[in-house]
Amino acid sequence: MKILYFKLRAVVVTWLLRLLPRNPPVVFKGANSALTLCEQVAVMGYNKVIVVTDNFLGSSGILDGIKGTLDRLDVAFVVYDGVLPDPAFDQVQEGEAVIRAERCQAIIAVGGGSVLDAAKMMSMLHANPGPLESFDGIQKSKKPGLPLFAIPTTAGTGSEITLAAIITDPISHRKIPIVDSKMIPGYIALDAEIMKGMPPGITAATGMDALTHAVESYLSKASTIATEEHARAAVRLIFKYLLHAYNEGGDIEARDGMALAAFYAGAAFTKTSVGYVHGIAHQLGRVCGTPHGNANAMVLPEVLAAYGDCVHRRLADLAIVAGIGEPTDSAASLAGKFIQAIIQMRKDMALPLLPRDLKAGDIPGIVDEAIAEAGSLYPVPRYMSEAEITTIVNGLRAA
Ligand SMILES: [Fe+2]
Repeated sequence: MKILYFKLRAVVVTWLLRLLPRNPPVVFKGANSALTLCEQVAVMGYNKVIVVTDNFLGSSGILDGIKGTLDRLDVAFVVYDGVLPDPAFDQVQEGEAVIRAERCQAIIAVGGGSVLDAAKMMSMLHANPGPLESFDGIQKSKKPGLPLFAIPTTAGTGSEITLAAIITDPISHRKIPIVDSKMIPGYIALDAEIMKGMPPGITAATGMDALTHAVESYLSKASTIATEEHARAAVRLIFKYLLHAYNEGGDIEARDGMALAAFYAGAAFTKTSVGYVHGIAHQLGRVCGTPHGNANAMVLPEVLAAYGDCVHRRLADLAIVAGIGEPTDSAASLAGKFIQAIIQMRKDMALPLLPRDLKAGDIPGIVDEAIAEAGSLYPVPRYMSEAEITTIVNGLRAA
């Protein structure tokens, strides 16, 4: 009975994702494209903007070029650098209060997924009455938000192109998924110069998040020819460039490749949603505080192996795209090699394999929530049993 309910939900989610109206953003690519994006702000006639970021980036000098360009173009700006990881309602409300007090006409968001998500919600809250709880769900806003310009500083979440944001309710501690196509930024800069200072651990974790988006999108029952092309492009770029970006952070070609990979993966999964890897990873974040990319890396190969035969053909496609194996190999063999290559990449980047403080007593709750999340939100290739998910999560406890 539950599986039937999940299948009906998957059909509804698939059609919603396909039918939501979306305005494709303008994308500037390459070194110093963040400065081109600032020029676009001036061209569009905005003369007062808010730059939304986090405290680390706000004091790191990364914003110097952006501030200098806005000054040169006579675009006045105010900086809000209070966004925290897993942003909560209060930061969105604080930022929006600054927008109102300073009469800002547009938002430039500079940061990783947390900053971009918070900026999306500031944009929505400014144009709609709120409260923030009222955005919980799908397409709940009435009006388009304040114009949003996005400059991602990590290559992972793909938040710059997705129609979703996750904001934490500080009272219930619930992470509220907000889905609204009006949140997609109008202008995006994929600027490798800004990403070259990213530490190796963040490069690894965010890169594995992008890989998970691409793979889960490719396996989704909601995939289309267009999303499959984006997912394959992302996988090809990640296998070509992620280790280079990890080992040599200043390698601009590798950073460019990863910025594009994360964008393509975002463009794919925003139309297909994800799968069990994210369903489990979100629970590891909630219960153990495991960073999102790390949590995905911990379970991606294990979930792919557990799916079994039903994903072999799809994983074989991705293996060929990634340059693993020979087209004459069987689908099962290529799928196995693809999974092994992910395990090797995880090892090469010294990613942690186990979450901290995962207690045996936490496992049933994690399993229940992962099954509920995947079943109600993700068009997964096959529904897994409670026993299968429990085996995967049990594997995350040190022997
Ligand atoms: Fe993710």
